[in-house]
Amino acid sequence: MQKSLRLGAFLLISVLAVSCDSSPVEDPGEDEGPYPSLSRRATFPVGVALQARHLNIPAYTSVLEHAFNSITAEYEMKARTIWQGPGRYNWTAPDRLVSYAEGQDMRVHGHALVWHSSTPDFIQNFSGTDEEFEGLVRDYITAVVSRYKGRIASWDVVNEAFADGSGLIRNSPFRRYMGTDFVTRCFEYARAADPDLLLFYNDYGTIWDQRKREAMFSMIDDFLARGVPIDGIGLQMHISHDWPSMTQMRQTVDGIVERGLRVHISELDIKINRHGDLEAPTDERLESQKRRVQDIVSMFRQIPEHLQHGITFWGLRDPDSWLINFEGRPEWALLFDENYDPKPAYFGFLEAL
Ligand code: XIL
Repeated sequence: MQKSLRLGAFLLISVLAVSCDSSPVEDPGEDEGPYPSLSRRATFPVGVALQARHLNIPAYTSVLEHAFNSITAEYEMKARTIWQGPGRYNWTAPDRLVSYAEGQDMRVHGHALVWHSSTPDFIQNFSGTDEEFEGLVRDYITAVVSRYKGRIASWDVVNEAFADGSGLIRNSPFRRYMGTDFVTRCFEYARAADPDLLLFYNDYGTIWDQRKREAMFSMIDDFLARGVPIDGIGLQMHISHDWPSMTQMRQTVDGIVERGLRVHISELDIKINRHGDLEAPTDERLESQKRRVQDIVSMFRQIPEHLQHGITFWGLRDPDSWLINFEGRPEWALLFDENYDPKPAYFGFLEAL
């Protein structure tokens, strides 16, 4: 009896020792595949935005599982998809994404609870009282956060609250019914639903739009002074190979770090055809895109490790990018080409690690 116990303990210790030894994160020697994995080499999460339908494409999931360890829903965790009416929710796509990530040991970054641009019609056309409106928003945030409590590590609680060029809170039903301080209460509702959840404010333009940047930092300072919960800032970074400057990027990142918040490069894509002069990518632009990725990864690695929330690309392959529709011209802004092959930018990322 005693002997078998001792043998059992020995086996258990051996198994633990072997599993510690072969930790895939730390050991690039374990890194098999046609090219090295980003997520196995990086010391921070490397993410991609996707749609549930991508999980049906084996070529897609094999690249995803090889190179990345964090996912964000491109739109299926936004209110227009989930929020069908008061107390009525559609969990199909988000449930699928979350269970997939759990099976793959990937992190899920939730995006986004409150966004003026993904608001269901019954909220957009709301005509009741302020109290009724706020009750709906509170219930929605509580329902979504609670459903994925302990399974989603972090959420963008509010997305793009500030207007371009003025730093004022943009006009939306949230501002009209809850006041310019609506962001505060959204963060409080999220924290109440899951005290361990990391709460992010996410926006674009906080690098190059000075008024927006200042407005965001005053909001953060106000949150910190009043004890309003916030853990990090998402920088969308829909940028170009030659714009904006690294100095500007660093200024915003430094401001976040100085305030002790996490930095998430949350929606990275790097345009090489901003002026529409290309019909196909040129080697020169692809090299320039590669240097940009290198610079961004190097800058990100300067952030104290506990504040590095990760770098997330807004799509996997060039043709998957939202920019093609949004900008209405050809673009090649991501890390993989249409054949799922890594581009120079992918190797730029690796070289900067
Ligand atoms: C975009 C998605 O990529 C599209 O598929 C969707 O139709 C609209 O939204 N800023 C954000 C993202 O915070 O949610 C947006 O994603 C891109 C801009």
